[in-house]
Amino acid sequence: MHFMRVRQFATVELASLYVASLIEFIISSHEHPVLGLATGSTPIPLYERLVNFHRQGQTFDHVTTINLDEYVGLGANHPNSYNYFMHKHLFNHIDINPAQVHIPNGMAPNMDEECRRFDRVIESFPIDVQILGIGRNGHIGFNEPGQLLTAKTHVTPLAPETLNANARFFKSRTKLPTHAITMGIKSILSAKAIILIAFGDEKAEAVYRSLFGPITTEVPATILQTHKNVTYVLDKQAAKYLPSAVSL
Ligand code: PGA
Repeated sequence: MHFMRVRQFATVELASLYVASLIEFIISSHEHPVLGLATGSTPIPLYERLVNFHRQGQTFDHVTTINLDEYVGLGANHPNSYNYFMHKHLFNHIDINPAQVHIPNGMAPNMDEECRRFDRVIESFPIDVQILGIGRNGHIGFNEPGQLLTAKTHVTPLAPETLNANARFFKSRTKLPTHAITMGIKSILSAKAIILIAFGDEKAEAVYRSLFGPITTEVPATILQTHKNVTYVLDKQAAKYLPSAVSL
């Protein structure tokens, strides 16, 4: 028995508006809200809506953000880095204080120290809501399937499926980073609330297995079944294998 809510929407736009409204509620009702943020194609429409909220008068100057992950070896000015992505899609368009933006540094000279620094950030700013995407292989952040899931921030090789899925963003396969620094499973589970967003047929199987499959490190998102406040926000395609009782 678990406590996961599933919300299904007819379109990506409606789903993204729903998540944006939940986030807007948190930032307008908390004195010091902390958002855990994700990259990838899935949250782009969500960030567009948050930018719209800002244009309509919502301030972000009291918001702290913590991102899930970053490629090792890509700096903030590299167009494929997640730091660059976040600025392009969100931070450059809102009034957030740059000192309150936290993204792992993929160029840190000592990655072990960078992991420990990032753990301290997560401990200092407990996350109110963590936004997650899901990989086709069931990864969350860059916690890839494996025998052992690491609890805290760590450097990980990217799984072959992830390299294939992400190759589309890079000019040449040889330029694709092979490693990433990512929040660990324990850090993700420490968020007070988690919203996992998934769109499209290619996510349907991972969504089904993560909700209904046995909890296993081979499908890292199944660990979310142990958290008390998780909401899945899906479009019709991503929800296609779910029993109709949860496909509302
Ligand atoms: P996507 O990536 O949003 O680009 O599909 C999600 C993920 O791999 O976590």
